Amino acid sequence: MIVLGIETSCDETAVALVDDRRHVRADLVLSQLAEHRPYGGVVPEIAARSHLDHLDGLIRRAMAEADLGFDQIDGVAVTGGPGLIGGIIVGVMTAKAIAAVRGLPFVAVNHLEGHALTVRLTDDLAFPYLLLLVSGGHCQLLMVEGVGRYRRLGTTVDDAAGEAFDKAAKLVGLGYPGGPAVEQAAARATEHDGDRFSLPRPMVGRPGCDFSFSGLKTALRQRVAAITAAAPDGRLSDRDRDALAAAFQTAVADCLADRTANAIRLVHADGPAPTARPTALVVAGGVAANRTLRARLEQVAAAGGLRLVAPPLRLCTDNAAMIAWAGLERLRQGGRDDLDFAPRPRWPLDPAAPKATGAGVKA
Ligand code: KG4
Ligand code: ZN
Repeated sequence: MIVLGIETSCDETAVALVDDRRHVRADLVLSQLAEHRPYGGVVPEIAARSHLDHLDGLIRRAMAEADLGFDQIDGVAVTGGPGLIGGIIVGVMTAKAIAAVRGLPFVAVNHLEGHALTVRLTDDLAFPYLLLLVSGGHCQLLMVEGVGRYRRLGTTVDDAAGEAFDKAAKLVGLGYPGGPAVEQAAARATEHDGDRFSLPRPMVGRPGCDFSFSGLKTALRQRVAAITAAAPDGRLSDRDRDALAAAFQTAVADCLADRTANAIRLVHADGPAPTARPTALVVAGGVAANRTLRARLEQVAAAGGLRLVAPPLRLCTDNAAMIAWAGLERLRQGGRDDLDFAPRPRWPLDPAAPKATGAGVKA
C-alpha cells in the first residue's frame, strides 16, 4: 500500500509518499519562513496564497522523485485540521480533486494524529505510549492507545511551548522563529550566567498535567524592562540577553518535565494491567528539537521506567510523511472519508477531555 500525504495547515507546504513497509518514498517540505519573517510570525493570508502557488508543483515533484504514477498509489491523505483554515482548504481541495479524478480513497487526517503516530513510522512503536506534543501551536500530553484512540491528560491553558519560545525571543531581541535562536543564545551563556536570572515555573509542583506559560513570559518581560530601565543606553547587553535566554529555556524545560513526570505517575497508577502501561515516552513537535528539553525528558523517562523516543528532527517538525502514514494506518483499518468532508480549523484529538485548569483558569 502506498499513500500520498499532503500538509498545508501552517507555514510548510509538504508532500510525501509512504508505503506500508514504513518506507518514505518521497518527503518534500517547502518552508515559508522567509515570507513570514518580516512580520515576526505566520500571516495566514500569505500562508494560504503560498500553499496555492506551490502545492501542485510539489506533488508533481514528489511523484517524480518516488518514480510513481497516480495509478500506483492506494489513497490520498491530507491534513483536514486543526490549523489555519485558508491553508487547510488549499490542501483538502487538492487532495479531493486527485481522489475524485483517480478514483482513490480520500482520508482527512487530524494534524495532531500525524504527530502522534509518527513514531510508528520511524520506530515501529507498539501502542500504548505516552506522548508529549510540543510545537508552535500545541502543548499536550496524550496517551496514544491506538489509531483513533487518544486520551488527553493535559494541555496548555494559554500559550503553546513553541509560541512561548517565539515570544520570549522577541522580548529579548532575538529573531524568528524563536526556539532555535533562544537555544543558541542560551548555549552562549556561560555556566555562571546561565543561573544568574531565575524565572518562575508556572504549575510546577501542582497536581495534574496542564501547562501554562503566560506568567513566565510576563516575568521575563518585567526582567527585561527592569534591566533596560537601569542601563545607561537603555538596551539589553548581549550577555544579559543570552543569560535571560538560558533562564527561560531552563524554566520551560522544568515545566514540561514536571508535567510529564505527573503524567507518567498517572498512567502507571491507572494502568495496573501491563497492557495498559505505556511502552515509551515519546516527544514530538518542533520544540522536541531542544537539547536541554531532551536531556530533562531523558531523566524523567528513566525515573519513570520508560525509554524516551523522539522521531528524527525532520519528522518532528511539520511534514507530510506523518500525514501519509496516519492516513495509511486509517486506511489499513478500513477508514476513509467522504468527499464532502469540511476543513476544520479546530479539531481536538480527544473531544471528551476535561477542560484545562490552573494558573487562573477555573474548572
Ligand atoms: O512543529 P513545528 O515545526 O510547527 C508547528 O506545528 O507549530 O514547531 C515550530 C515551533 C516554533 O515555535 C519554534 O520556535 C519551536 O517549534 N522550535 C524550538 C526549537 N526549534 C523549533 N523551540 C525550542 N528549541 C528549539 N531548538
Ligand atoms: Zn505540527
